[in-house]
Amino acid sequence: MPGRNTNSADNVFMISLCVGLALLIVRVSGQCGYPPDYETAILKDEHQIQGPSDFLEGFKVTYTCRSGYVPVTGSPTITCTSSEWSHLTLVCDRRSCGSPGEILNGHFNTDEGVLFGDKAYAVCDEGYQLVGSGVRSCRAAGWDGAIPLCEIVKCPNPPEIVNGEITNAPQGTVMFGTVIIYKCNEGILVGNKELVCTKDGNYSSAPPACKDHKGCPSVPVENGFKTAGFGPDYNYGDFITFACNPGYILHGTDTVTCGINEIWEPELPTCQKASTTTTTTTTTTTGVPSTPSPGNVFNHYEHPSVPPLNLLIPLIIAGCRFTLQIGIVHAAMD
Ligand SMILES: *[C@@H]1O[C@H](CO)[C@@H](O)[C@H](O)[C@H]1NC(C)=O
Repeated sequence: MPGRNTNSADNVFMISLCVGLALLIVRVSGQCGYPPDYETAILKDEHQIQGPSDFLEGFKVTYTCRSGYVPVTGSPTITCTSSEWSHLTLVCDRRSCGSPGEILNGHFNTDEGVLFGDKAYAVCDEGYQLVGSGVRSCRAAGWDGAIPLCEIVKCPNPPEIVNGEITNAPQGTVMFGTVIIYKCNEGILVGNKELVCTKDGNYSSAPPACKDHKGCPSVPVENGFKTAGFGPDYNYGDFITFACNPGYILHGTDTVTCGINEIWEPELPTCQKASTTTTTTTTTTTGVPSTPSPGNVFNHYEHPSVPPLNLLIPLIIAGCRFTLQIGIVHAAMD
């Protein structure tokens, strides 16, 4: 009997062991591992998930998009099925921060994009400079930082000049784009009359100077005559235009200007006797009357023997110099 008793006790033990083992196997085979990690999504309420014992067959876990990401489509839930988690169909995209804002006298460069992680760069218009940070980042909560300012560029006070003055003295600070106009009270204005306050906060050039000028000397014309600029006084910027008598050829430029150094610029031209062939050619091509009236330059000017086809007429208006090329007009008058 003790043997049988032992035997039956063993059987009971063995049976319970087998049942227990079988239960354990069933349980292990229906169990999932820890739910996977995803790049754009995380487990919702992760702290409430206890451990492997929670992930039995049929168990569900829910995901949520990571910070900075928003759900676009799909289901946030996966299920433990046959010891494996189902595939997460939830799609999360980077959130959009929208416009980083409007900048007065500038704008944001959003070439990078306006989604989570992108940066927007402030660009000021020409003549404006950035005050504050020029970069905003799209974060989970929206654009960080603040909209910067674009402040107009300022120039220092324009310099004073000797023997001259500023005609439009600025009231207060000189801003980008302001034009400062100088004039001379004595002498000749040399350099730039107008200075502009640039985007760099300096002036477009140095101020002009007022220079003493006694004028240029009157010049005789040997074998030629003046067609413009008869004098007798020549001031800075005045012109003389020359032409040569028939049979003479002009060497140099026909127009000279009274320069800042009280001399004619460029060098005065000369009238040099032409060779016979050249004279014939000149006469033929220009159809000049063969009998010039020598000695009187004004006669020559009124009835020019050699039509100054390339005549330049200088006009001096208010210190400014304009040149009209009137070869065609002259030809028409002829
Ligand atoms: C003004 O400043 C800029 C930048 O510093 C410089 O490049 C430029 O030459 C300056 N212009 C004048 C006229 O001084």
